[in-house]
Amino acid sequence: MEQITLRRPDDWHLHLRDGAMLRAVAPESARHFTRAIIMPNLVPPVVTGADAAAYRDRIMAALPQDTAFTPLMTLYLTEDTDPDDVAQAHGDGIITSVKLYPAGATTNSASGVRDFDKVRPVLERMAEIGCPLCVHGEVTDNEIDIFDREAVFIDRVLDPIRRTTPGLRVVMEHITTRQGVEYARSGGPDLGATITTHHLVINRNHILAGGIKPHYYCLPVAKREEHRLALRAAATSGDPTYFLGTDSAPHTDPLKEQACGCAGCFTATNTMSVLAEVFEQEGALDKLEAFTSLNGPAFYGLPVNEVQMRLVKGDPVSYPEKIATDDGPVTVFDPQMPLHWRVAE
Ligand code: DOR
Ligand code: ZN
Repeated sequence: MEQITLRRPDDWHLHLRDGAMLRAVAPESARHFTRAIIMPNLVPPVVTGADAAAYRDRIMAALPQDTAFTPLMTLYLTEDTDPDDVAQAHGDGIITSVKLYPAGATTNSASGVRDFDKVRPVLERMAEIGCPLCVHGEVTDNEIDIFDREAVFIDRVLDPIRRTTPGLRVVMEHITTRQGVEYARSGGPDLGATITTHHLVINRNHILAGGIKPHYYCLPVAKREEHRLALRAAATSGDPTYFLGTDSAPHTDPLKEQACGCAGCFTATNTMSVLAEVFEQEGALDKLEAFTSLNGPAFYGLPVNEVQMRLVKGDPVSYPEKIATDDGPVTVFDPQMPLHWRVAE
């Protein structure tokens, strides 16, 4: 029997939502992941330390009592964010990082940042106290082609912010381009990047060729094949710059399958099987643990997980096509390939 053992993974970018959806999807992540950075783009967003503490309590209440899962909370950066509140929440251990959404870039980002100069005092304070900034890296200008928005964001927004805020630790979230891979690699120890499960598997043909496939639509949108290959090379390299952030983002089927469908791929259920398949295809199973379990804690200055996870290779694994929630069904990411690695209980 072929098997591998690794430290239990963490998910450095996760959407758990709230209410009925939270109750349905939180156990899907807690089954395999020990910790996760929890995105704050609820409606209304998680903007204060008090909001984050209350949301953390709702997440814990949604999980069975004996679940060993730690949500690492984030604040949603707005132009009104109070630097003192960030410092207090970070110092008290309520939050791990702050999330920057350019206003209008993605789901529930309307309260995000329009004028980056307005958040300068918060960013400077974060640099002082060592609180990382998680960045959704896309410009929102209508005249910029959606497939170019990540590369343009790096030049126009991210690089200037990093130059004017020395010491600010930044995570480029869910990078999707060769430019993102290269910029992250060149950024030194204060710059990291998460890569999702689905961006290692799909390119833009999966969304658009042969009929539109709403369940492959997410933001940043999947790009050309050359970019997917750059992401695969980065993720499987073992380079500590890159770590797993699934960006598992549940929306119910009716909200995905409509004239204006929501962005997000739901990968919490089968991520570890998909990743093992991808890393095996790249001849890099020995680098899987770095990507899922070592590089993220090292960037965030947190201890690695002591508990081990075993992955066993065999007949193709089965996983549900959909997760039932009281809000409606949520489709699980279909990697369009058999998955041979299962997480052994
Ligand atoms: O595809 C996405 N879905 N990208 C994001 O940035 C947000 C997320 C969501 O919240 O649904
Ligand atoms: Zn996200």
